[in-house]
Amino acid sequence: LGVTVLPPGSTVGILGGGQLGRMLSLAAARLGLKCHILAPEPDSPAFQVAAANTVADYRDEAALARFASAVDAVTYEFENVLVEAVTFLEALKPVRPGSKALRIAQDRLLEKRLARDLGARTADFVAVSTRAELDQCTEQIGLPAILKTCRFGYDGKGQASIRSAADADEAYAAMKGQAAILESFVSFEMEVSVVAARGHDGSFAAYEVVENEHRNHILHRSRVPARLSSKVCAEAIAIARRIADALDYAGVFAVEYFCADGQLFVNEIAPRVHNSGHWTLDGCLVSQFEQHMRALAGWPLGSTERHSDVEMINLLGDDVDGWRGLAAEPNTAVHFYGKAEARPGRKMGHVNRLTPRQT
Ligand SMILES: Nc1ncnc2c1ncn2[C@@H]1O[C@H](COP(=O)(O)OP(=O)(O)O)[C@@H](O)[C@H]1O
Ligand SMILES: [Mg+2]
Repeated sequence: LGVTVLPPGSTVGILGGGQLGRMLSLAAARLGLKCHILAPEPDSPAFQVAAANTVADYRDEAALARFASAVDAVTYEFENVLVEAVTFLEALKPVRPGSKALRIAQDRLLEKRLARDLGARTADFVAVSTRAELDQCTEQIGLPAILKTCRFGYDGKGQASIRSAADADEAYAAMKGQAAILESFVSFEMEVSVVAARGHDGSFAAYEVVENEHRNHILHRSRVPARLSSKVCAEAIAIARRIADALDYAGVFAVEYFCADGQLFVNEIAPRVHNSGHWTLDGCLVSQFEQHMRALAGWPLGSTERHSDVEMINLLGDDVDGWRGLAAEPNTAVHFYGKAEARPGRKMGHVNRLTPRQT
């Protein structure tokens, strides 16, 4: 299916109904694009703000076919969406980003191999499929190391650190028989990410490099500008561009890096808008959400220029109970995701604190 340009008035289908789908829908609405969300959970946060919703399982082909006939193009808001659903839809409507990017980004082995093939550095890694293999691999990689399921991990789920040989049994058990990857532990000084967009005509626009701080493996804070040299920032953006070109990517994506001794290590590729890009909602003329819509609708990419210094803080679980105080803070934009239940660690919203741009 060729390149389609979706004018205002078109309908974009989104697989997934979480906060990313919600913020995509809000941005799309401002461009005159309607969103139709398909998600299995009836209380999906995105349903509250979309033009149309379908509650269906991603394996329900009849529902997928009806969804396809109701939309002009399809995107997805989380990378664990079933590849089968995406390939099914690809036969019916343009899907951006396509299944190739999704397949690679879903698998930690494939994404690290891609980064290596493109000349980027990663932590040392090796595939692990049996308990006996794990012992050989820890010897090869050295300790400490981190064992991760190749697929379906997020926010540190499906990961176990191995500090000494005594941790290996428990770590292996935590993989629950799934294919895994053992990575050397990178003692980084900083985690950074690049959020960028590629148009299907090959156009490219990156936001400034973001500095990220995780707590319990969940993003806590992002800040721009990152406290990193302009040379390393330029390198991070150049690597991200090579990755997007190699995937023939269309849409917004993120590349997460570790930074140690001025060297960048690619950690993860996310084929979607990303938590570390939420600052763009208030720090840029065109947010990552609008940019994704522009890219997938075949519009010109928008300005990624940053007008302020921004600190983004995630609100997890009952952090959101402080909503009134946050709303009273000067120079702070509040974003709540409309989730009914504030379970511990659940992403309930975020705030962007703005200060005048210093550099
Ligand atoms: N090889 C590693 N060395 C050091 N820290 C790591 C390594 N892998 C993961 N981490 C830490 O755990 C966090 C989450 O891991 P990540 O691979 O990004 O998985 P996900 O975000 O899908 O849960 C990272 O942001 C980083 O803080
Ligand atoms: Mg990550």
